[in-house]
Amino acid sequence: MADDQRVFLITGAAGKTGHAGVESLLARGHTVRALVRQDDDRARSLAAAGAEPVVGDLLDLDDMSRAMRGVSGAYFCYPIREGLIEATTVFAQAAVEAGVRSVVNMSQISARRESKSNAARQHWLSERLLDRTDMLVTHVRPTFFTAWLVDWWERRDGEGALRLPFGHGRHAPVAEIDQARVIAAVLADPEPHNREAYTLHGPIEMDHYEIADAVSGELGIPVHYEPISVEEFAAAMTSRGLPAHLVQHLSNVAVDYQQGIFAGTNNVIEDISGSVPLTVEQYVAGRREDFRTSGPNFVPRPSA
Ligand SMILES: NC(=O)c1ccc[n+]([C@@H]2O[C@H](COP(=O)([O-])OP(=O)(O)OC[C@H]3O[C@@H](n4cnc5c(N)ncnc54)[C@H](OP(=O)(O)O)[C@@H]3O)[C@@H](O)[C@H]2O)c1
Repeated sequence: MADDQRVFLITGAAGKTGHAGVESLLARGHTVRALVRQDDDRARSLAAAGAEPVVGDLLDLDDMSRAMRGVSGAYFCYPIREGLIEATTVFAQAAVEAGVRSVVNMSQISARRESKSNAARQHWLSERLLDRTDMLVTHVRPTFFTAWLVDWWERRDGEGALRLPFGHGRHAPVAEIDQARVIAAVLADPEPHNREAYTLHGPIEMDHYEIADAVSGELGIPVHYEPISVEEFAAAMTSRGLPAHLVQHLSNVAVDYQQGIFAGTNNVIEDISGSVPLTVEQYVAGRREDFRTSGPNFVPRPSA
């Protein structure tokens, strides 16, 4: 790859798919600029890995123009926060002005015109906005990430619990590293993927009873899935201080989940990246430390 002069921009580079995206592009021998919101240890570790960190705000046109200079392909990733449409507009304008050729856009499987989640509908609108540019555009629409298991995990009295409003719904949890390999492969060779919207799934579709069993088997402790109502879930998120926009999104995609919108599996990750995606067991095995304590968002059991 020594003769490849292209520079790739990864936004959200301190986050899950962004960080893994930087790693995947570097592993392929590419030059990577990594957009971070703040200059902190995460930015320093991206620099140590070989990326060029640039501090900027996805909502700031001047910052994004600076970040796009000389860039061939860019990954757009904005969290579930207010401002997605504005960030997409700023990103698209800066990219077009800078002559960026291709974009991979992080969307999600629930992105639909009729989505009840405001964030999911905004993802759908952002896809349409990017499609109206003359860049090569590819959308990735993952199901729930395997990282959910860490965020919503309760560890207490030597046991684990997942209290979530998913009933008997199913999905195939997808790891950030597997998504990142797809993002890197598409950035490296964008033409065949132009105007595609790829749903990204892990290898095995499971309900949360099966997921709890898989985590239990890997950690060697009892793990319980306790289905809760969407109302209890929303109240717990609100009392934890999570933003109203995120609570509105997650409450509505929980209903989507129960109705099968997040279900399914496919071969997209292997076909595009050449790598077999991680199972839940493999993911947990790689992050055992993270399961020793409760995650940031867990919904406590009533007796806690
Ligand atoms: N989690 C899931 O199960 C799931 C499923 C399907 C799709 N998705 C999609 O995945 C996306 C999130 O991806 P992710 O989980 O990889 O991201 P993430 O871990 O939430 O990280 C997002 C990064 O963006 C940075 N950021 C936030 N606001 C910014 C701004 N104004 N300017 C510049 N940077 C900013 C954050 O910086 P700080 O860390 O400094 O705050 C953070 O590092 C969302 O669009 C979501 O819809 C998620």
